[in-house]
Amino acid sequence: MAPPNSALISDLVSGATHVPSQFVRPEHDRPNLDQVIQSSDMSIPLIDLQDFDGSRRSEIIKQIGLACQDYGFFQVKNHGINEAVIDNLLAVAKEFFHLPESERMKVYSEDPYKTIRLSTSFNVRVEEVSCWRDYLRLHCHPLEDYIHEWPANPPSFREDVAEYCKKVRGLAVRLLQGISESLGLERDYINKALAKHGQHMAINYYPPCPQPELTYGLPGHADPNVVTLLLQDDVGGLQVLKGGKWVAVKPITHTFIVNLGDQMQVLSNDRYKSILHRAVVNSDKERISIPTFYCPSYDAVIKPAPKLVDDDHPALYRSFTYGEFYGNFWDKGIDKKSGTSLGMFKTN
Ligand code: OGA
Ligand code: NI
Repeated sequence: MAPPNSALISDLVSGATHVPSQFVRPEHDRPNLDQVIQSSDMSIPLIDLQDFDGSRRSEIIKQIGLACQDYGFFQVKNHGINEAVIDNLLAVAKEFFHLPESERMKVYSEDPYKTIRLSTSFNVRVEEVSCWRDYLRLHCHPLEDYIHEWPANPPSFREDVAEYCKKVRGLAVRLLQGISESLGLERDYINKALAKHGQHMAINYYPPCPQPELTYGLPGHADPNVVTLLLQDDVGGLQVLKGGKWVAVKPITHTFIVNLGDQMQVLSNDRYKSILHRAVVNSDKERISIPTFYCPSYDAVIKPAPKLVDDDHPALYRSFTYGEFYGNFWDKGIDKKSGTSLGMFKTN
C-alpha cells in the first residue's frame, strides 16, 4: 500500500473504492457520460495518407482542409510509421508506469519548465480539483539536447522513445505541409513560421477509476501548440466537442489522431480553430495515451499569415513569441481557461 501522501495518483488510488475528495468535480462540471455521443457516424474523419507524396496529394489535401475546417480533428492511417515502432513505444510506456514508485519518482517535478518530468493531474501548483492522471513529459527536439535526461529504466526506454520521436516528427512536418497547402499557403509556410521547431511529448497514464462520472482524466481544453499527434492504446476515453456535444473517439489501432492547437488558429487567422477535447476515465482498465505536441521554438514570432489577412479578414491576433504564449499557458490552471488561452493575444 502506498503512503497516503503519495504524490502520484496511480500509487494513491490503487484499490480505492471511492474517488478521494480532491478529484471530485463540482456538480456543474462533471462529464455527464450518458450524454456523450458514441455513434461512429459522428466521429472524426479518418484520412488515408497512402500516396500523399504522389498521385493522391491534391485529393488528400482537400480532405485535410475539410477536416480542419469542420472538426479541427482527424485520424490518419497509412502514415508510414512502422507498427513495431508504435507497439514498442506503447509497451515501454506501460512498463515505465508499472515500475516501483521509488524508481518513477526519480524524475518527479512540479516545475513546468523542466524539460523532463513526471507529474500528476495537470498543473498542481494552480489547480483546485485534481485530474485522474499521471504523466511523464519530455522535450524531444532536437533529440541530442534531451535524450541524456530521459529515464534509463526501463532499459530500452531511450531507444524506443527516440525512434518514435524521429518518425513522428517526420509525419508532423509532412502534415504541416499539407495543412499549409490546404490554406492556400506555400508548402513550407507553417514549417518556416515555427523557426527552429519544438517537439514535446506526454505519456499520460490514467489508472482505473471507481467512480468515472465524478472526475476527469483531463477536463475540456485546447492544446497550446500548433498540431498534436495523439497515439493511444485500445481502451478509449478521448472526447471531442462538435456542435456543442461531446463525441467519443473510438480508438483504431496504429492510427494517429491529429488535432489543431492554438498556434494553428493564429497562423490561419481563425480559418482553422483549436478545438476543445477532454479525456474521461473508466472503472475497468488503465489507459495510456501519448500526445506529441509539435510546436514553434520559443523564439518563433507567431502571427496570422499575411496571405490570410485582407480588408474582409483583418488580423485577429497581434504577433507574439511562442515563449510569451507558453509562459502564460502554464501560469493558469486548465480549469481557469475558457476554451483557449488566446484571449490576451487578440487584436480587439
Ligand atoms: C492532452 C490530451 C487526450 C487523451 O494530453 O493534451 O488531450 O486522450 N490527451 O489522453
Ligand atoms: Ni489535449
